[in-house]
Amino acid sequence: MAEDLKIQNGSKEEKYISLIPQIKALCEEESNWVANLANVSAAIKQTFNYYWVGFYLIEDNELVLGPFQGPIACTRIKKGKGVCGTAWEKEKTILVDDVDDFQGHIACSSLSKSEIVVPLIKGNNVIGVFDLDHNYTHAFDAIDEKYLNQICTWLGSIL
Ligand code: SME
Repeated sequence: MAEDLKIQNGSKEEKYISLIPQIKALCEEESNWVANLANVSAAIKQTFNYYWVGFYLIEDNELVLGPFQGPIACTRIKKGKGVCGTAWEKEKTILVDDVDDFQGHIACSSLSKSEIVVPLIKGNNVIGVFDLDHNYTHAFDAIDEKYLNQICTWLGSIL
């Protein structure tokens, strides 16, 4: 698919509902996981203009920076460290309204103020995390959690 992404006007939920089939169509035409994760992060960044959108993937028992959109970021995160390493360890989504309230938050950028991290699970194993940051507090909510979980569940089934 070489068409432009169609960005729906309206609420955050309406945007996700319009975006998800487009993401699936993009990825279903391509078998390379780097290409697909790159396009998923770009599509979400383009739709919501979040500050940083990207993947960390587990390699040698560490999270290693994968495809992303946004400013440069930390390249390696250990299990249990930061929001990403905690989401991996607990195997659950972590929504942080204000990063200053999350003990151990890793500040790749001083501009990041809120964050959501969703584990990427293939079968019974966490294979990475999907991390989104924004430059103001309380940027993410239950709508992001619901749809980002849908996206990650689906990615886990195709990766
Ligand atoms: N803040 C994250 C580190 C990754 S960057 O936000 C891109 C954390 O605490 O794990």
